[in-house]
Amino acid sequence: MATIGLRGVRKVFPGGSIALDQVDLDVADGELMVLVGPSGCGKSTLLRIIAGLEEPTAGTLYLDDEDATDFTPQQRQVAMVFQSFALYPHMTAADNIGFPLRVSGLPPEERHELVVESATALGVQELLERWPKQMSGGQRQRIAMGRALVRDPRILLLDEPLSNLDSGLRSELRAEISSTVRSSGITTVYVTHDQTEALTLADRIAVMRGGSIEDIGTPGRVYDKPATIFVAAFLGTPRINLFEAWVWNTVDSHVSLRIGEQTIALPWQDPRARQLAHYHGERVIVGVRAEALVSLAEPLPDCTIRGRVRYLEHHGHESLAFVDIGAAGIEIDLAPPPATKPKHFRHRPVTTMRGVWKRITGTQPAEPQDQPDSTLPATAGRHQKRSSGLVMRLPPNVQVSAGDTLNIGVRRELLHFFDLRGDRIDAGFR
Ligand SMILES: Nc1ncnc2c1ncn2[C@@H]1O[C@H](COP(=O)(O)OP(=O)(O)OP(=O)(O)O)[C@@H](O)[C@H]1O
Ligand SMILES: [Mg+2]
Repeated sequence: MATIGLRGVRKVFPGGSIALDQVDLDVADGELMVLVGPSGCGKSTLLRIIAGLEEPTAGTLYLDDEDATDFTPQQRQVAMVFQSFALYPHMTAADNIGFPLRVSGLPPEERHELVVESATALGVQELLERWPKQMSGGQRQRIAMGRALVRDPRILLLDEPLSNLDSGLRSELRAEISSTVRSSGITTVYVTHDQTEALTLADRIAVMRGGSIEDIGTPGRVYDKPATIFVAAFLGTPRINLFEAWVWNTVDSHVSLRIGEQTIALPWQDPRARQLAHYHGERVIVGVRAEALVSLAEPLPDCTIRGRVRYLEHHGHESLAFVDIGAAGIEIDLAPPPATKPKHFRHRPVTTMRGVWKRITGTQPAEPQDQPDSTLPATAGRHQKRSSGLVMRLPPNVQVSAGDTLNIGVRRELLHFFDLRGDRIDAGFR
């Protein structure tokens, strides 16, 4: 039994940088909680506070409902694998794994037994006599995991444990970590900046930004109903399409969403139409992921937008089409600078969101053009290109070329709506 509770945790480093601001977090017994967010958002600091390697400026840490804020790292019985997992180079794999047991004074025979048991569980029993320099990155990572698990800690903290590995090995070890952690039933907090890793591993995800937790929930909930546009943009590839839309209520039938020169209608039967109706005559932000879009032979009324293909990206199993729909896109700054002032998330004024999203203006023609746009530099970064159009998936061998006009069917039930502060519009989703 091991639970973690953080209440109002704040960390201000000397010099005034606010690494964490009023963080509340509960991790259940045996849960695999993944902290995800861009570089500098405070993930490692939060982990180090749980481990007792960093002292919070304010707030309380509970372990098993007991106030553990002033416990030493040893009292907490927490094991941590660091961001740059370092093995002792002058020790064999066996000595590296057994090191925490030696420090705690366990006799050599018992130590050896536990080391072998731990190495066997991780499939590295043949490597026990090797030196770190004789092992691959993946093998060293397994030894580091063994060293963390050998003490049978009540909590396991993993700080980007796979970041030094290539992508093939990363997904292999990800599956191994997941099964090791789940079969041991150990309460685990796993830090990553990789959203795919977060979505595939977690029981629950906490998405962090600028020292705060912006959203928390199961991977499915956070992906399907992101609390803010930042969370919507952080999770998922290709990145969610975000457009500004004017809302207009047509009392007897539907709510219109005007995106550029085109309109999507939400019938009143859709419960979200009632929420959107409050924005009559105002702007909202519409989010639409690639999986909500489909190319149609003929337009369907009220849920089709037309666009011109700017270019295609072939990925083997699918192609991504970058389509101009003649509307202003919204670009999200996924790595805002760290906070130096406190933030108030629930009632933030519009101006505080200015650094987070901006409208792309001047890059979009009012109407789709007839000719492909040759002004886009070939070296333009992916992010730059994607943010100024709409991205959709097409089957791999589809007969579509740059310059073609598409009828794009929108699965309206998969649309996301945000207000201009970036908060999700549809009450009661949490
Ligand atoms: N010892 C320190 N002194 C001053 N500022 C620090 C210190 N450690 C971290 N910070 C700052 O606190 C913020 C959060 O840092 P932290 O290492 O927790 O981020 P992170 O989310 O783990 O980032 P990354 O993904 O790059 O590892 C950053 O702005 C960082 O510069
Ligand atoms: Mg870090």
